[in-house]
Amino acid sequence: MQSVLFVCLGNICRSPAAHAIFQKLIIERGVDSQFTIDSAGTYGGHAGQLPDQRMREAGAKRGYIIDSPSRKLIADDFEKFDHILVMDDMNYEKAHRIAPTIEGANKIGRMRDYCLKTGVSFVPDPYYEGREGFERVLDILEDGCNNLLDELISL
Ligand code: 4NP
Repeated sequence: MQSVLFVCLGNICRSPAAHAIFQKLIIERGVDSQFTIDSAGTYGGHAGQLPDQRMREAGAKRGYIIDSPSRKLIADDFEKFDHILVMDDMNYEKAHRIAPTIEGANKIGRMRDYCLKTGVSFVPDPYYEGREGFERVLDILEDGCNNLLDELISL
């Protein structure tokens, strides 16, 4: 059993999308019983809200059910999860501040390191973008989630 937590700022666009993409992938590959996945945000201002409607709609067109309610990243997450994947440098810094121990902080990784095809240096925040921004984020996260799963399956 492995546990993966996807983290962005608001937990209403990027990380719930990564959560849904990874969820679909583990089902398709028949390994869903081997994983626990969730998502969270370093900013708690949207806690309890469903993901952004624009992201939900863009994801639904690709077959993803993006419906996890927003919640804030907490110190306990660093005990509970094996892998904590952040979307950008700000998330990386904030997650380190929330991590209660060095062991917890060592679980933090960058989603961009798995985005081999799209080759991005971070997963951009689509919140202030148009429709194409959301499509681009889904392209990036599909790339990243595929490679992340390849690596975790080989562990
Ligand atoms: P996310 O996008 O981090 O991908 O969920 C954002 C959502 C909300 C805000 C910023 C980014 N916000 O400032 O409210």
